[in-house]
Amino acid sequence: MQCKRFPHYTLYIILTCGDEDLNEFLKIDSLNYRNQLIAKTFLVIYKEQVVAFFSVMNDAIKLKQEESSGTQNLIRLHEYPALKVGRLGVDKHYQRRGLGTICFNFILGPARKINDASTCRFITVDSHPESTAFYERQGFVRNQRYGKKQNFVSMRLDLLN
Ligand SMILES: CC(C)(COP(=O)(O)OP(=O)(O)OC[C@H]1O[C@@H](n2cnc3c(N)ncnc32)[C@H](O)[C@@H]1OP(=O)(O)O)[C@@H](O)C(=O)NCCC(=O)NCCS
Repeated sequence: MQCKRFPHYTLYIILTCGDEDLNEFLKIDSLNYRNQLIAKTFLVIYKEQVVAFFSVMNDAIKLKQEESSGTQNLIRLHEYPALKVGRLGVDKHYQRRGLGTICFNFILGPARKINDASTCRFITVDSHPESTAFYERQGFVRNQRYGKKQNFVSMRLDLLN
C-alpha cells in the first residue's frame, strides 16, 4: 500500500466511499483545489485502485474560554494555528480494516513537518455525524464554539496531548 500525490493516478479514480460529496470532490474539485493552493489531496493506491483518499489544508481555530483554560499550558489567544482534514474517505469495500487510521497517521506527518518551519497546534475536522466515533478513536474532541454546522460536527485534536 502506498500514498501518492494527486494527480499521477487520475486514471484510477473509481473510489466508492458511499458519500457522493466526497466522490465528487475527488473526481472534479481536488485538482483545482491543489492548483489554487487551497488543499492538497493524497491517494492510497492498492492493486492499482484508489482505496482511500484524504485532503489537508491550513486552518485556524477559535476556542471557548473554558476550552482554552481546560487545555494544559495553552496561551490565551483569539485563535490557534491548525491543520484541517478537509476530506477523508475510504472505499466502502475497505472500511473498518484500519485504512482510515493509516490515512490519519499519515496526516500527522505533515502536521509535524509544519512544526519544523512554522507552527500548528491542532488538527481539525468537520466530521459527518456518523463518522465522529472514528475521529474520537483517534483522540479528537468536539469543539464547543462551532457546535454542529451544516450537518457536520466540528472537532479538534491537540498535537501536544
Ligand atoms: C470514517 C472513515 C474514514 C473511517 O475509515 P475506516 O478505514 O473504516 O476506519 P478504521 O478501520 O481505521 O476504524 C478505526 C476505528 O474507528 C471507529 N470507527 C470507524 N468507522 C466507524 C463507524 N462507521 N462507526 C463507529 N465507529 C467507527 C472504530 O472504533 C474503528 O475500530 P474497530 O473497527 O476496531 O472497531 C470511513 O468509514 C469512510 O470513508 N466513511 C465514509 C465517508 C466519511 O464519513 N468520511 C469522513 C468525513 S470527513
